[in-house]
Amino acid sequence: MSAAMKNFAVLASGYGSNLQAIIEAEKKGKIRARLTLVISDRKDAFVLQRAKKAKIPLLFVDPAHFADRESYDCEIIKHLKTAGIDFVVLAGFMRILSPQFIQNFKNKILNVHPALLPAFKGSRAIEDAFHYGVKVTGVTIHLVDEKVDHGPIILQETVVIEQKDTLAKLKKKIHALEHRLYPKAIDLFARGKVSVVGRKVIIGSRV
Ligand code: GRF
Repeated sequence: MSAAMKNFAVLASGYGSNLQAIIEAEKKGKIRARLTLVISDRKDAFVLQRAKKAKIPLLFVDPAHFADRESYDCEIIKHLKTAGIDFVVLAGFMRILSPQFIQNFKNKILNVHPALLPAFKGSRAIEDAFHYGVKVTGVTIHLVDEKVDHGPIILQETVVIEQKDTLAKLKKKIHALEHRLYPKAIDLFARGKVSVVGRKVIIGSRV
């Protein structure tokens, strides 16, 4: 294990299939960084069971105990700093981060979105793309900035919507792509291969 290896945390609210893909990729050496903390805002989220099974330190931070988003985020930042987290991976985290959170981890927060941004922003992206009738959709891995589903794009890949595809089939295709693309982007980021120039991400050695 290299001394320069970075530590990262996953923040998630739900089923955690992306967390599972990340855990497995790290085990296989496909993510050259250490997942050292999982945080959820939902006590009974299945993602916490996955973290427990993989023996990754986990935390449930209850939003009900905080007056507003800023104080909640302050608590999360405290845990991330205490754990020595270098960068943050959002995997179905159903909260909008405060500007303060984003400033604390500027260009160090990754998110996965189940559509080709800037199309179909929001939490119903797969459904929206399907019902709109687009022939091609996909997955976007991007850095998080102050605007929702907006930051510089690290990786994007397409999924073709076939005429015979049901919404359920499309969801399967999108999730399978997320599970392949997100670990790849995390590994690139962790190894310092992601540079931001304005709105654009340059993949490769640092400039
Ligand atoms: C994924 O579809 C991701 O794109 C979106 O939330 C979903 C999380 O799924 N942001 P899971 O909890 O990782 O299974």
